[in-house]
Amino acid sequence: MEKKIEAGVFIPTVRSGWVHSTNAPHTPGSFKHALEVTRLAEYLGFDFVLSPQNWRGAQGPHRFWGDTVDSIAAAGALTQATDRINVWCTAHVSVHKPATIAKIVASLSEIGDGRIGLNVVTGGNYMQLYPLGFWDDMGHDERYDMAEDWVSVIRKYWSEEVVTHDGPYFKADGGILSPRPAKRPTLVNAGASPRGLKFAVDSCDIAFLMGGGDAKFVEQAKLAKQLAKDRNKPDFKVFGAMTIIPGETDEAAQELLEHLEVGADLVGLADLASGYQKNTKGFDKLSASSLAPLGGADYKAVMPGAIVGSYENLASKIAKQVNEADLDGILIIVPDYISHLNQLGTRTLPRLADFGIECSVGRTTAVPNSVVVE
Ligand SMILES: Cc1cc2nc3c(=O)[nH]c(=O)nc-3n(C[C@H](O)[C@H](O)[C@H](O)COP(=O)(O)O)c2cc1C
Repeated sequence: MEKKIEAGVFIPTVRSGWVHSTNAPHTPGSFKHALEVTRLAEYLGFDFVLSPQNWRGAQGPHRFWGDTVDSIAAAGALTQATDRINVWCTAHVSVHKPATIAKIVASLSEIGDGRIGLNVVTGGNYMQLYPLGFWDDMGHDERYDMAEDWVSVIRKYWSEEVVTHDGPYFKADGGILSPRPAKRPTLVNAGASPRGLKFAVDSCDIAFLMGGGDAKFVEQAKLAKQLAKDRNKPDFKVFGAMTIIPGETDEAAQELLEHLEVGADLVGLADLASGYQKNTKGFDKLSASSLAPLGGADYKAVMPGAIVGSYENLASKIAKQVNEADLDGILIIVPDYISHLNQLGTRTLPRLADFGIECSVGRTTAVPNSVVVE
């Protein structure tokens, strides 16, 4: 086999996940559902799950992200309900002090026997953060400067007995965190901007890029690898986040995509975009466009770059992106996290081997009772 990748699932601890349509399968944003999806992912052979952190839902008919379970709290419980799969949670740098997250994630590492990772996010949507008192009044790039300092404090707490730190944003004077994690938790980031990508390479282990198979995606993946090479970080990894719209046939998958777009929650998408427009340091167009294309009627229920096709044909499409962008891993997003995930895990991802890609998903063919949804 030429290439080995890790495979993960972006689990929907947020209502509606990442398909913002009134025609989408019901995804409640409950812990119970996230647990079912995580157990299914583990059973199918996935290497990790990642849960997002979100502080305010959109105000449209679908109420997407309106109900959420806290990503960090869920991680502890998910490790206790599983045996093998890695569980990565998310924290915003402007919401928590670094020492708080260092302690919580060190505890999660003990609880989960080292199967823990942390997705570091800077936020940037005014309406997601301001109402709860989390808006820091920083510009986009400055928030990444803060994130760098934030992560360096956390790394110190995880590796040094007594921490002294005099950074531009955070201080520590003889800080002690005990016990320190036996194995350093994985640090990941999904910045899409040049500053975000630099932060990922400088401060984290993995960069998540929103897959799309277009030239820009491949270029960005190569840039991340080049930055890592320049910094002598040969173990740095680049993963592609892929929204997959599957069907029994290519036509059925295309029909599902069209059905989802007919029900696009335009009010909710506009509400989400307006959160970026209200930023006190100027409209954060880049972050906004990574979530939804801007411009009224152009709002889409499904993120740009989704891979659409039959369970059979999807394997070659996923493999093409992995090979062209030289990805080290993939993160799956689907409309239906039980039936679609089960089919992809048993029928599509095992076929990556036909394209020279080794991936641990697909050792089974049926869903066990413990993961069947009611
Ligand atoms: C896989 C993935 C996971 C993300 N998780 C979160 C999250 O949980 N919370 C959040 O506020 N933003 C999240 N984001 C948004 C990114 O952290 C980032 O802000 C966005 O891609 C824009 O990039 P930029 O910050 O470099 O402008 C995620 C993005 C991706 C692609």
